[in-house]
Amino acid sequence: MLDWSEPQAPKPAPLHPAFAPPLADATGLGAIDAGAARVRVDEKAMINARADVNQLLPLKYKWAWEKYLAGCNNHWMPTEVGMQADIALWHSPSGLTEDERRAVKRNLGFFAASESLVANNIVLAIYRHLSNPECRQYLLRQSFEEAVHTHTFQYIVESLGLDEGELFNMYREVPSITAKAAWALKHTQSLEDPGFRTGTPEADQAFLRDLVAFYVVFEGMWFYTGFAQILSLGRRNKMVGIAEQYQYILRDESLHLNFGIDVINQIKAENPHLWTPSFQEEIRSMLREGAELEAAYGRDTMPRGFLGLNAGLCEQYMHVIANRRCAQLGLGPVFAETENPFPWMSEAMDLKKEKNFFETRVIEYQNGGALAWD
Ligand SMILES: [Fe+2]
Ligand SMILES: [Fe+2]
Repeated sequence: MLDWSEPQAPKPAPLHPAFAPPLADATGLGAIDAGAARVRVDEKAMINARADVNQLLPLKYKWAWEKYLAGCNNHWMPTEVGMQADIALWHSPSGLTEDERRAVKRNLGFFAASESLVANNIVLAIYRHLSNPECRQYLLRQSFEEAVHTHTFQYIVESLGLDEGELFNMYREVPSITAKAAWALKHTQSLEDPGFRTGTPEADQAFLRDLVAFYVVFEGMWFYTGFAQILSLGRRNKMVGIAEQYQYILRDESLHLNFGIDVINQIKAENPHLWTPSFQEEIRSMLREGAELEAAYGRDTMPRGFLGLNAGLCEQYMHVIANRRCAQLGLGPVFAETENPFPWMSEAMDLKKEKNFFETRVIEYQNGGALAWD
């Protein structure tokens, strides 16, 4: 009988080590345990599983499998979005103000390398230690989506004739972008030691920190202000091709974020000893730091503000988002409650409602299953 329930209650106390079956090889690439018994669903776990990681079935976590299917239903390619209007506007001397051009370039520069940072973290850090095949199935799909997103920035650079070195190297040249990337990287670097293994409280907490840094802060907070900047221009009929691509990226990222939140909450449920009061405080501090780094980036990117968008509003939006992410992780808010300055963002996330929103060709890729946006 399959267990289709959502994030589950803690398991009973583990067997005494003398009686517990050995942990599975987490990579799935070790010697074959020939003749071993068939996988039981209760042997599967998010981390430190005893079940063979090479066997997808029997499924244990329905939410992970459903997110894999939802990701497949969202397939899109950046080259299917017309760029003619963007090219004309970008090359028109009066098309954009200098402030708008700076914000667009910084935004593109932040995303261009960030998509690769996120992809590398999935493939080289998370995948190795997440010992559940249905979650790995989703990670494989997500990895492809990150490749599509990186492709988007290549396509934009090519279409607009931008300086590729300026954009892709920006994360090493613009201090406020470097600061964000460096903050996230320190959490994946703690897993970089080839000898790193989960299985101790310290190592399992290091793994959770990496999940929070990349899924919650990088993809779930920083990307959202980036989306707000470009979609704000799109709402004013500027850079509509890029805005349409960002809508598709936003739809993907919303799923990435929600997968990450489910993974973290499931690990918490299975390993309550990791979620100590001091560790919860540490996670709240991470979200607070993430919002502060974003505020500094906003001041750097939009020193004067334009068309209803400025650094102050982006900082306020980040406070709203940070508090929402805390709630999703079962944590108290880190900032005073404040009004969402971009209420239109939730509408921009619903592509079905937004057909012809930017008066460009919108392809409806979603072919099944409603998605929950946040
Ligand atoms: Fe992405
Ligand atoms: Fe992502």
